[in-house]
Amino acid sequence: MAKHVLIVDDDPDLGAVLETELTRRDFRVTLLQSSEEAMTRIDAGEDDVDVILTDFRMQGCSGAELCAHIVESGRSIPVVVMTSFGSLESAISAIRAGAYDYITKPLDPDDLAVTLDRGIKERELREEARRLRRDIDPSARFEEMVGASPEMTKAYEMIDRVAGSEATVLITGESGTGKELAARAIHARSARANGPFVAINCAAMPEALLESELFGHAKGAFTDAHQPRRGVFLKAAGGTLLLDEIGEMPLGMQVKLLRALQERKVRPVGADSEIEFDARIVAATNKNLEHEVFEGRFREDLFYRINVVCVELPPLRARGRDILTLAKHLLSCCQPNGRRVVGFTSAVVDAMLSYSWPGNVRELQNSLERAVALATFDHLRLEDLPERIRRPTPIAEVTEASDPEELITAAELERRYIAHVLETVNGNKTVAARILGLDRRTVYRKLTQRTDLGSASPAVEEHAGSGPS
Ligand SMILES: Nc1ncnc2c1ncn2[C@@H]1O[C@H](COP(=O)(O)OP(=O)(O)OP(=O)(O)O)[C@@H](O)[C@H]1O
Ligand SMILES: [Mg+2]
Repeated sequence: MAKHVLIVDDDPDLGAVLETELTRRDFRVTLLQSSEEAMTRIDAGEDDVDVILTDFRMQGCSGAELCAHIVESGRSIPVVVMTSFGSLESAISAIRAGAYDYITKPLDPDDLAVTLDRGIKERELREEARRLRRDIDPSARFEEMVGASPEMTKAYEMIDRVAGSEATVLITGESGTGKELAARAIHARSARANGPFVAINCAAMPEALLESELFGHAKGAFTDAHQPRRGVFLKAAGGTLLLDEIGEMPLGMQVKLLRALQERKVRPVGADSEIEFDARIVAATNKNLEHEVFEGRFREDLFYRINVVCVELPPLRARGRDILTLAKHLLSCCQPNGRRVVGFTSAVVDAMLSYSWPGNVRELQNSLERAVALATFDHLRLEDLPERIRRPTPIAEVTEASDPEELITAAELERRYIAHVLETVNGNKTVAARILGLDRRTVYRKLTQRTDLGSASPAVEEHAGSGPS
C-alpha cells in the first residue's frame, strides 16, 4: 500500500513540486500549508500518516515546533525537516526537537524518497521489536513494572513514547496502581536517566513547608533558616522531579507552582531573585483532576500546564491475568531469603481473580506478605487470605441476608450480578450484554468500576498503607 506522507510547507509552489515528485515515487501525499494545520490533523488522530515532511522556517510555528508537538503527542510518526543549505543551526534544532532526520535544500527527489522510506521502515522495526518483546513473555517487565495485559501495554507504550521528550507528564490512576513506578520508568527511559530522580509528596505537609521543600529558602527566611537550602526543583537538576499527589496541593501553592513551570524558574522563600531550574516534571494523582477543577479545588490553568501528556494506569481489577503474574512476582519479592511458600491453591487463584482490589497492587502486595507470614503450607490457602478477599458471599445469600453486616451496596451487587451472568454464559460478553440489556462497553465498564469504596473511605487507607498489615 502506498505510504502516506504529510507535506507541510507554506510555499505552495514548492509544495506542489514535492507533491508531484513524491506521487510519482508511489507515495500518497497530503499537502498542508502550516504547522498549525498539521498539528490539528495529527491531534485528531484520524488519518494514518506514515511520515511527515516539513519545512523548517515557516510563517507561524516552525518545523521544529511541529516536531516537538508530534513527540509530545505521543504519536511516533517520523518527521523529516527541510532546511536551507548551510543552515546547520536549524538542522540541529530540528533534531533536538525530535525530528527523525533533516534534508537540505535544494532537494533531490530521489534522496528525499529514500530518507522518507528509511524513516517509515525504522518506525515499523521499532514497533515490531516492541511487539515481539511483549509477545515472547507474558510476564514481560517494563522497567520495574510487571504485567503484560493490553491495558498495561497501552500504558507502557505511552511511557515509552513520552520518555524521550521533555514534556510534562501527568500520571493518573487509583491508589496503589504503580504511579511512582511509572514515573521512575519515564525517568529511566529518558535522556535524563543518569541524573537524579526526586519525588515529593505534595499532600504530606502544610503549605509553608511545602513551598520551602519545593523551592528552597534563603538564609534567614524564617527563624530556623540558619543556612540557605535548595528545594527539590533544584535538587532534581539534570533529572526528573515527581510531584506526587498533586491533586492535594493547596490552591495558594498551585499559583506559585504554575508560575514556576511557566517561567522555568523558582524563587526560594525569602530570596529576592529567581533561579532557573533544569528538571523534567512529572506529576501524579489518584484524583480526577478535571473534577477537582470543576469543584474549584484545582486551578484549571495549572491542570492544562501539567496535563500535556497523560499516562493512565488501569486499576488492578481491569488487568485480567496480570493479577496472577503480579501475585507470583510479589510472592518471591516478599521471601527474599528463599521460598517457603511456592504457589497458590486454586481457591486462592479464584479469589484473587474475582476480588475487586480497591487498593490495587499495593493491596495485593500487603495481602500476600501477610498471607506468607501466616501460611503453614507451601501453597497459600484461602484461610491465609484476609477475610475481605476470600470468595464473597454468593449473591443469593446477600439478597436474602438479614444481618446488616452482610449487606452490600447496589453498585457492588450490580457488579457481582454482571459477573455472574458473564460466568453463566462462559464469558461471552455479547450474550451477557443482551441478557443484561446493556451494551458491551457498559458491561466492561461496570465490571471494572470501583464499587465498594469511596476514595475518602478509611478502609482505603487501611488497605493502601505501606508495609505489611
Ligand atoms: N506493575 C507493577 N509491578 C510490580 N510492582 C508494582 C506494580 N505496580 C505497583 N507495584 C508495587 O505496588 C506498590 C504501590 O506502587 P506505587 O507506590 O507506585 O503506587 P501509587 O500509584 O503511587 O500509589 P499511591 O496513589 O497510593 O501513592 C509499590 O510497592 C510498587 O512497587
Ligand atoms: Mg504514590
